[in-house]
Amino acid sequence: MLQLPQTTPSEVSLSFDLSRLRILPRGNKTLVMDRISGKWLSISSEDEIFLRLLTLNESRCSESALLDSPMWDIVRRIKQECIACKVGVPHSERQFNTLNTIILKLTNACNLACSYCYDYEKMEGAQRLELQMGLQAIKQALSLCDKVLWVILHGGEPMLMWDTVEYLVRAGTRIAKEQGKKIYFSGQTNMTCLTERIVRFSCQYNIVWGFSIDGKPEIHNHFRIDHQGKGSYELFIRSYKLFPSFVKRCGVMSTITAVNDSRLLETARHIKALGMASWDWSLFQPIGRGRKQSTHFKFDLDRLLTSWDELFNAVESGEFDGFPVLPVKKYLDAFVSGPAGNMCMRPQCGAARDLLSVSADGTIEACDCIDPTGPLSNLGNMQYSTLEAAKSSPTAEKIRSRDVTCHVAACADCIWYGVCGGTCLAHAPGLHDVWAESCAISQLAFDRISDSLMHSDHMLRYLNSLRV
Ligand SMILES: C[S@@+](CC[C@H](N)C(=O)[O-])C[C@H]1O[C@@H](n2cnc3c(N)ncnc32)[C@H](O)[C@@H]1O
Ligand code: SF4
Ligand code: SF4
Ligand code: SF4
Repeated sequence: MLQLPQTTPSEVSLSFDLSRLRILPRGNKTLVMDRISGKWLSISSEDEIFLRLLTLNESRCSESALLDSPMWDIVRRIKQECIACKVGVPHSERQFNTLNTIILKLTNACNLACSYCYDYEKMEGAQRLELQMGLQAIKQALSLCDKVLWVILHGGEPMLMWDTVEYLVRAGTRIAKEQGKKIYFSGQTNMTCLTERIVRFSCQYNIVWGFSIDGKPEIHNHFRIDHQGKGSYELFIRSYKLFPSFVKRCGVMSTITAVNDSRLLETARHIKALGMASWDWSLFQPIGRGRKQSTHFKFDLDRLLTSWDELFNAVESGEFDGFPVLPVKKYLDAFVSGPAGNMCMRPQCGAARDLLSVSADGTIEACDCIDPTGPLSNLGNMQYSTLEAAKSSPTAEKIRSRDVTCHVAACADCIWYGVCGGTCLAHAPGLHDVWAESCAISQLAFDRISDSLMHSDHMLRYLNSLRV
């Protein structure tokens, strides 16, 4: 990766800032990336030399022979192309200050006892979100949001709280309508206690569920066990057999640990063969129950990178056309459509900006991934505070002040910063640090994706296959 010469402030035109650009040779093409906004274009590698002349300030250039030369026409064309693609254009990146998503952790109780769970308590003694607190959270979030609010029903196991789900979804839908706003509900479940009532209500209110399967039965049953230590795959199969079309409309999430880090392709194939709507991953985080014996769960980075590469090859070859493989598609979307779509993969991540999370005991968090025992936790509590106050609390401001470019040399100069965002702060060792494993995955993913897009239409074909 090459860095273009830095311009001094007086050389930077108001609409074009060369210091944001990084270039990466990709065979006979060159990727020109705005490392802040994540916008890019490709130029012929023969034109790369002219990019460097962009540092010359045309209005102050005394070499009239140079300005009249055909070479200068090429320089102007490249600059125009950059500006048309918003590459090197300051302030072209979107800001995300308005709340649009709220996570409601309805309980930390669960009928399962997954060994790695970051959010698990036995049924007895577990917290349950009080109805009025849940309602207040939705009301306040609707007031704070612009036109649309997404509510994510989470846990513990949210399907254990079905009366609460129905109450909050009905009330939220009514209040949103009164305010002329849209509200959408989704949820994350273990899909082991599905009933006719849950299916009917979910269909009626369009609740989009995702659920957790870690792979084939022997992999899934390794850590996803019940309170007696028995694997839970069978419980999922029961729901699958009872309500096949409902279950198949849901997306699947696999937690990546030492048992499946080398088996991404096999897992994606398994979930696709079951007929599910999509497959995603959640990389193991050593908090909650997973904090103890974390080495037992932790994935191996080299194995994971090799496995991701294999998965990418399969996606590129067309094997997964029509099936969203999100561990690849997330990076592809960020690269092709810009970082706005995914609240995690952008320099200003969602935490305490467009996202807030309310835990079962009413604690307001910037994001549900933030360690509840750590220094970035607890922006207030719904019992005595509001979402608005939580968003402007000193801890929320501290979270929003995260800037890896000032503290991590690699990020300060990284071509992928705009699309990677500097990894998830909740997984990083410190506020301004990066999560090393996620950084390595970003580097591999954006390298493979940019190379593929410069030389073939395979990945665009894949994206188009998901639109039909
Ligand atoms: C805490 S669960 C709550 C929802 C529901 N009970 C379920 O299992 O899907 C949400 C997701 O986080 C994943 N998860 C649990 N513990 C984790 C950990 N330590 N690191 C990363 N992901 C984890 C789960 O596998 C699940 O996909
Ligand atoms: S991961 Fe989900 S299903 Fe497993 S124990 Fe935690 S809350 Fe329950
Ligand atoms: S803290 Fe992490 S998981 Fe939460 S929004 Fe930010 S990047 Fe995403
Ligand atoms: S975390 Fe890694 S890939 Fe992301 S911006 Fe920083 S150096 Fe680049």
